[in-house]
Amino acid sequence: MTAMADEKASVFTLVDLIERHSAALAAQLQAHHVSTFPPVAKKTIRHFQPAEAAKLVGVKEVYLRQISEKIEGLDIQTTTGGRRSYSVEDIDIIRRHLDKVGRAERMYVPHRRDHEGLQIISVMNFKGGSGKTTTAAHLAQFLALRGYRVLALDLDPQASLSALYGHQPELDVGENETIYGAIRYDDHKRSIKELVRKTYIPGLDLVPGNLELMEFEHDTPRALMKRQAGEALFFERLGNAIDEIEAEYDVVVIDCPPQLGYLTLSALTAATSVLVTVHPQMLDVMSMNQFLAMVADLLREVQTAGGNVDFAWLRYLITRFEPADGPQNQMVGYLRSIFGTHVLNFPMLKTTAVSDAGITNQTLYEVERGQFTRSTYDRALDSMDSVNGEIEQLIKKAWGRAA
Ligand SMILES: Nc1ncnc2c1ncn2[C@@H]1O[C@H](COP(=O)(O)OP(=O)(O)OP(=O)(O)O)[C@@H](O)[C@H]1O
Ligand SMILES: [Mg+2]
Repeated sequence: MTAMADEKASVFTLVDLIERHSAALAAQLQAHHVSTFPPVAKKTIRHFQPAEAAKLVGVKEVYLRQISEKIEGLDIQTTTGGRRSYSVEDIDIIRRHLDKVGRAERMYVPHRRDHEGLQIISVMNFKGGSGKTTTAAHLAQFLALRGYRVLALDLDPQASLSALYGHQPELDVGENETIYGAIRYDDHKRSIKELVRKTYIPGLDLVPGNLELMEFEHDTPRALMKRQAGEALFFERLGNAIDEIEAEYDVVVIDCPPQLGYLTLSALTAATSVLVTVHPQMLDVMSMNQFLAMVADLLREVQTAGGNVDFAWLRYLITRFEPADGPQNQMVGYLRSIFGTHVLNFPMLKTTAVSDAGITNQTLYEVERGQFTRSTYDRALDSMDSVNGEIEQLIKKAWGRAA
């Protein structure tokens, strides 16, 4: 046999081998999925204790108890220990009741008004594992629980956000069912309206992702070469798709892939605000430096081409922060000294509650408190709520509302 034929044979073997590995892994994953994760139809959001429910509504706990007794049709569960526990539906009824009886200037159902624009928050950084998906998933759920109408948009071909929300990218998301369907260049392009799915949290919808999103990275260079005058530029396609459902939401949260390709650039130009997740370690910060330089270059090109480069806010969020870690603290101090108030006050703490919940594809808002050591869970939730509350204030500020 010649060397050439040898090489060819080994190439075939490799293809075959990888194919077999892929099939075997897929079968195993499916079995694992069936045994570990509840099907999406069975995913639920837990009930909330009085203190939490009061916080979500925005009233004192005592007041919540008083008014809950007065609202007709409200049937609040009590636990075996006699504690009340509120469902998301209860909380919604209470909000609507308060708006009906309360003072006009106080809004409990916080939907945006006519002069308040849709907020599109893109969560990005090209560093893998910087906490983008964890941040996006919890932020979108938090805002929905606070009463906003939220769309979570999974722009990552890895589709971790969809998986976390119970939509397994290989099993539950078919062809042309990701946002790719609404931004593709060919005749199969469809309306984003057909791609939106309800989730188990009222007020929170999802456009799931899967590997087909990669197609956009491949199609775009070709489309750029063939582009005809008047055709929407690639970075406008996502924004144009979102425009179709603009009226139905208050906030869109976009989870970006860990690279700076056409998808992330589309999210950047569609966004009204940008959240950059940073794990405070030297290597991560060095890579973020490159990320920022590239973003600036790309945005300049977008600007030259007439695209949107105006933002309401940009914030850096410190993720997986360990307060007892000296070097991390130094790095946070360093970031704050450079970026000033652009770094969110609250960091997202590293906690086993988040990583453990993630193992069964759940968020902190879904898992039951009883699954964890109480202090671990409470500290985790407190950190998450503080981060999300700070972002909510930025959203309100963008609408011109008082904090
Ligand atoms: N606050 C936290 N505490 C503990 N673990 C965390 C925390 N935030 C994220 N993690 C874990 O770190 C890992 C990476 O997080 P995540 O998937 O959110 O990052 P990402 O930036 O979206 O990654 P990718 O670049 O691959 O999309 C996950 O396993 C997640 O469970
Ligand atoms: Mg991710």
